Amino acid sequence: MKATPAELLDLPDDLEEAILELKRERKAIVLSHYYQEDAIQDLADVVGDSLALARAAQNVECDVIVFCGVHFMAETAAILNPGLPVVVPDLDAGCSLADGCPAEDFRAFVDQYPGARVLTYINTSAEVKAMSDLICTSSNAVKMVEQFAGEKLVFAPDRHLARWVSRQTGRDDLIVWPGACVVHEQFSAKALAKLKLEQPDAEVLAHPECDQGVLDQADFIASTSGIIQRAIEHADRPAIVATEEGVFHAIRKKAPDKVLIPAPGGPDESCSCSQCPYMRLNTLEKLYRALLDLEPRVRVEPAIAKQALVPIERMLMLS
Ligand code: 13P
Ligand code: SF4
Repeated sequence: MKATPAELLDLPDDLEEAILELKRERKAIVLSHYYQEDAIQDLADVVGDSLALARAAQNVECDVIVFCGVHFMAETAAILNPGLPVVVPDLDAGCSLADGCPAEDFRAFVDQYPGARVLTYINTSAEVKAMSDLICTSSNAVKMVEQFAGEKLVFAPDRHLARWVSRQTGRDDLIVWPGACVVHEQFSAKALAKLKLEQPDAEVLAHPECDQGVLDQADFIASTSGIIQRAIEHADRPAIVATEEGVFHAIRKKAPDKVLIPAPGGPDESCSCSQCPYMRLNTLEKLYRALLDLEPRVRVEPAIAKQALVPIERMLMLS
């Protein structure tokens, strides 16, 4: 969402310099996910995937964390740092996976499987994390599933990640909450097959949140940081990228000539609509105001935070 004319008039001429100045004044650390706009990534102290950002949040030394990502990520940082303010540019930056798995419904779902252990993707609310034995991200999901060998296991909330993990681990008995990511699910297998014929030299890099038809055509499947690393290592080869296009910035910094093609998708199978509508609610203007006002803040009820901390710390210890 763009700033209104009145808000724009109220902004310093050199917004980026003003943000750097405020960061120093506030003793703030800015954490940014790879799906943020380029300018935000450039101003951040740490840019990473969801696991790297949770790790960074565990080790910060500052007076305030400004989290440029989506709500569940900022909430995780707040859980890891009780007492430290965690500010976000836009409190409405949610996630279809986290929002599609309400705590009450998840409790009812888990209750249908007495004795089952619960492994949840980090893309969930604090309340859902509080009901979990362990958390995972896309970069450690296989290893986290392996912690539950021989046990009945609920895996939530992404059904595509669940299917991929299930294939990697040979576990075909996962009890899966049927959620999906609105960005990754819209990539089209049919349009991708057509594009591959037009781009025979390109390798397909995909995030495990994509549909099986897309993953079946991928040369490499990994988290955002895995995709970035692979793209840089194969700088001479064009890549069709089936994840949010914010990753292009980190790739181009290290491999400026790399040919990057967003995977096609959308309702008519022709659009390259690979921006996360939630992540992109955050803007430079809102980042400036968050640093200025130290609002809006992410707040987690202390009893929930205490319970949610246990599976998050367990994941960080195992990763
Ligand atoms: P990563 O764990 O790869 O950062 O993914 C986070 C996410 O939201 C993917 O859509
Ligand atoms: Fe959530 Fe998908 Fe956006 Fe990632 S890309 S934050 S999973 S909606």
